[in-house]
This record gives sequence, C-alpha cells and structure tokens, in this order.
Amino acid sequence: MKILHTVEEVREWRNNVITNGGGGGSSVGFVATMGCLHEGHKSLISQSLKDNEFTVVSIFVNPSQFAPTEDLDKYPRTMDEDITMLVSLGVNILFAPNAHVMYPQGIPLNVEEQRGPFVTVLGLSEMLEGKTRPNFFRGVATVVMKLLNIVSPNVAYFGQKDIQQFIVLDTMCKELFVNTKLVMMPIIRDEKSGLALSSRNKYLCEESLKIASNIYRGLKEGQLHVGRSREDIMKSIEDVWQPFIDSGDFEVDYISIADFKTLKEVDTVPTRTTTTQTPNVVLSCAIYLKDRANSNTVVRLIDNILI
Ligand code: PAJ
Repeated sequence: MKILHTVEEVREWRNNVITNGGGGGSSVGFVATMGCLHEGHKSLISQSLKDNEFTVVSIFVNPSQFAPTEDLDKYPRTMDEDITMLVSLGVNILFAPNAHVMYPQGIPLNVEEQRGPFVTVLGLSEMLEGKTRPNFFRGVATVVMKLLNIVSPNVAYFGQKDIQQFIVLDTMCKELFVNTKLVMMPIIRDEKSGLALSSRNKYLCEESLKIASNIYRGLKEGQLHVGRSREDIMKSIEDVWQPFIDSGDFEVDYISIADFKTLKEVDTVPTRTTTTQTPNVVLSCAIYLKDRANSNTVVRLIDNILI
C-alpha cells in the first residue's frame, strides 16, 4: 500500500492508472474516513475492493465539520492500527493529508473566520442533524467535494449509518455533476447488542455500551408499528427508551420519521413491498448518552432504519 500525503502525489498515481489502464478502463473505488477504523469502515472498503481494480481510502479528521464546542481534539486517532488493517485488506492507496493540504487558507472552527470555497446543499443540510449541528453538512460536503476532486474515483462508498450524510452527498454529486457514482452500504452493528458501530463508541464504558444498544431496540419497536399512526410509532419507540430517559442515561435529541428523498417529516408511512425497492421513509434518531464511568462524557449517537 502506498501512503500519499499531497494532492500532487494522488494526481500522479491517478494519471498513471488512466495511462496504464487502457485509456481509463480501470475503475477506482474510494472510501472517505476519519480513521479509527472498525468493521463498518471495513465493509465499505471490502465492497470497493470487490467492485474495482483499485481502492483508495482517505483518513482525514476534517475540522470544518466540527463545531468549536465539539470533540475535534479528542476525536480518536489510531493511525498505526488503521494502516495495519488497510494493508491486510489489500488497499492500494491511503491518502492521509494534513489540514494545510485540504484547507490552504487555514481552517478556524469559527465559521465567521473561515475563508475559501465551501459547499452547501440547501434544503437538506438544515434538516435533522443540521438542526443541532448547523454547519456540519457544509463541512462534510466541502471536504468530500475536495476529496472527490483529488481522487477522481469512479465509485465512492458511504454508510447508511450516516443516512443524511449520504443523501446530502448524493444530491451534491448529482447536481454539481460530479463524475462519481455514490453507493450506500448497510449499517454494520455489534453482533450481540445491535448497537451501530461508530468510532465514538470508544468514549463509552461497557455498561453504557449495553445501555446504548437500546437505541436500536427502540427503533426496531417503532418499525413493528409501521402502518399505524405517526404518533403510535413515536410512542412505541419512546416506551422502550423511557427507563433510560428516567435514569438520566438518555437524552433524546430527535426522533424523525421522514421522507427518504426530501427528509421532510411524514404523517403516513407506506410499507415497502420488497427490500430491493428504494426506501420510502427513514426512521432516525439522535440520542445524547451520558457515560456511566464518567458523567462528564456525553456522547451523541445516531441510528436509523429504512422503511
Ligand atoms: P467516518 O465517521 O469515519 O465514516 C466513514 C464512512 O464509514 C461513512 O460513510 C460512514 O457512514 C461509514 N460508517 C461508519 N460507521 C458505519 C457502520 N456502523 N456501518 C456502515 N458504515 C459505517 O463519515 C465520516 O467519517 C466523515 O463525515 C467523512 C465522510 C469522512 C467526511 O469527513
């Protein structure tokens, strides 16, 4: 595996693939990450390795998607383990730029002080996650646009775990005519508990991880009530979560039952006849979970089910 740090190095590698791959015939798959790689990331990378002749993975903890109050400095960084995993999988290129490469004018966390080009996907970025994290998708869209322009992949893989991120990025690529196809991969969960894997799970103790698995248990209960009213679905989820709200472990940021394309809240939830059909609705949530081992640690966890 080659580890590249600059735009020029990646471009040179990419041009060689085009020149030596029979006029651009070799396909390049791409997986963007912030590192601290787990089985969720691995599933995206494995799919890319299966579908494409070459796979590029990026590791970059992107400052512009963190608010000044969020965990940029604390975000787990495990570069050595990540490299071992990528080598064992057979990844061709790791692109690991520094902040200066990605943001030549610097990247202060305070949006008012930021300079340079930024990408906003209006109408989608403000919904759901965007309400609590107003500049989050501007940061994500900007960095992914930059990465796609550097790597020029044929296909890029993103996880359903961050469903709104996928919808925002897919719209960005389609409407800015980016010549890359985006593929959404299913959520990888802890086998026993069902908790969606996330780099931020590292912040939680064993006991709180067990409690966190009730997030998915609640969503699944909601899914069982599809066909009933929106209120019934919401209530069935809240009933599962109530003991953990009462104990002070959970604080619910939002539960949403929204249209898969527009992310607007819906009143009725049509059932899907086949799982291959495009989903109609996304049942999603964000929960603040207080760590039992350290009450100063509050982790915001998201999850969703497509219906
Ligand atoms: P990160 O959280 O590292 O996730 C990288 C990719 O892995 C995303 O597409 C995410 O949806 C996917 N992923 C994470 N956990 C998953 C799970 N349990 N199952 C399936 N896929 C999972 O998302 C980001 O980084 C950043 O916002 C990024 C796109 C890299 C831009 O900075």
